[in-house]
Amino acid sequence: MILMNNIVKRFGEKTVLSDVSFSVADGEIFGLLGPSGAGKTTIINILTRQLLPDGGTKSLGVEPLQTGLMLEQDGLYSRLTAADNLNLFAGIYGVPKSKVAQSLEAVGLGDAAKRPVNKLSKGMRQRLALARAIIHSPKVLFLDEPTSNLDPNTAIGIHKLIFGLRDNGATIFLTTHNMDEAVHLCDNVALLHKGKIVEYGAPREICERHESFKTVPDLESVFIKLTGVKSLEVKE
Ligand SMILES: Nc1ncnc2c1ncn2[C@@H]1O[C@H](COP(=O)(O)OP(=O)(O)OP(=O)(O)O)[C@@H](O)[C@H]1O
Ligand SMILES: [Mg+2]
Repeated sequence: MILMNNIVKRFGEKTVLSDVSFSVADGEIFGLLGPSGAGKTTIINILTRQLLPDGGTKSLGVEPLQTGLMLEQDGLYSRLTAADNLNLFAGIYGVPKSKVAQSLEAVGLGDAAKRPVNKLSKGMRQRLALARAIIHSPKVLFLDEPTSNLDPNTAIGIHKLIFGLRDNGATIFLTTHNMDEAVHLCDNVALLHKGKIVEYGAPREICERHESFKTVPDLESVFIKLTGVKSLEVKE
């Protein structure tokens, strides 16, 4: 469903992605992991055609309109209400307005429909951005740190939603700094470090490869060992 082959991306003198290759199967939840600045958002931007790579090839198994996108910068209209943000989007994507209330309910924002975005908490805005990303039932969903800065209960709600979307046939591409989340959610993960994918596989398999003596998978310590960074979990 998603394929990258030898992708190179430079910003000026700086080579951010030097040789990135991976694939994501149809119906999979895939997690892209890596320290801050590794190039995760850049990869999403390339896959969603917001940035052009400097080398390599990539492909997406669906039309651009069948993709959903939730970025770190939510791009919501802060003076419009939650519902109107979605109404606008529903109009662009040609989805029935009834989907607006449905998407807001799905992310637990049913009661906040009439509140302007600038009166919502960060977590609420994040969930609204997610509601917008799923309103047209995309076949491929890109989620850039969908649960960063959310309280544990809200994060669990988002996880349930992601599993539900996958069960309905969507392919999910997400980034996270949270290793527990990666183990819990992802069928496969890839670790991005110094412009390349340095480890790939099912979280448990990766842990077994590196830490066969441990019974509880500890992706975090495996990745710290591979990258030398102190922690992949960045609190902003
Ligand atoms: N438009 C741009 N112009 C110049 N440099 C950029 C641009 N976008 C990203 N970069 C640089 O590319 C590198 C990768 O950035 P990117 O945002 O993809 O990292 P990330 O893995 O998403 O990090 P984080 O976990 O903090 O979100 C960083 O060094 C960043 O400064
Ligand atoms: Mg990022």
